[in-house]
Amino acid sequence: MEVIILPSSKEIGALAADTIEDLVHNLPRAVLGLATGSSPLPIYDELARRHDESGLSFTQVHGFALDEYVGLPAGHPESYREVIRREFTNRVDVAPENVHGPDGTATDIAAACLAYEEAIKAAGGVDLQILGVGTNGHIGFNEPGSSLASRTRIKTLADQTRQDNARFFDNIDQVPHHVVTQGLGTIMDARHVVLVAYGAGKAQAVRDFVEGPVSASCPASVLQFHPHATILIDEAAAAKLT
Ligand code: F6R
Repeated sequence: MEVIILPSSKEIGALAADTIEDLVHNLPRAVLGLATGSSPLPIYDELARRHDESGLSFTQVHGFALDEYVGLPAGHPESYREVIRREFTNRVDVAPENVHGPDGTATDIAAACLAYEEAIKAAGGVDLQILGVGTNGHIGFNEPGSSLASRTRIKTLADQTRQDNARFFDNIDQVPHHVVTQGLGTIMDARHVVLVAYGAGKAQAVRDFVEGPVSASCPASVLQFHPHATILIDEAAAAKLT
């Protein structure tokens, strides 16, 4: 695990965008794993800027979302499919049919999860997975207690996560209780993982997953076992590292 401390989210976004730009130049059909939430936004902003200003192109790229709420109707502005379109893929030239996400509206969720795993495999696996980290150490929506070998499945959100995500909704009652998320085993299959975190609110989670024991109590700690994990954080998020 390589940990890089940078002055601000802008530099973090730029460095992650450099890595993605290199990948897409070398491998135009690259498969990107796409996170939502606030953390990846500086990456998506920078990629959109490079697309507009220097022609960085994603025409053959495929994107696979990490997770999705269960219970939000298709097209809901806070569904992660919509967030990814709005924040990233609609701002660049990714083909809409190349953007995939777990189906939180399926009547047979288990079958949809299996189909999602198969779709990732059929695309050749994820070349670069963008990740944020929850204040409780989750990645994707693999909350504490998740199996380190888990695959895409339905999960119940922790109270802490619903509180953290209430800012995207009018009030906490609107935050769904359930999600479909790639598992920790699914995330570990990505060839390169780039996790970004900023701010003091992430400092404890960063300390726990970088320096603590590998444990289901802190799901992001599984990344200590990943052969190519890059952690990009600011000073505030790094403050509790020894
Ligand atoms: C989002 C996701 C979550 C977030 C995490 C941090 O797709 O999988 O793990 O990355 O909850 O969220 P932010 O970035 O909003 O602090």
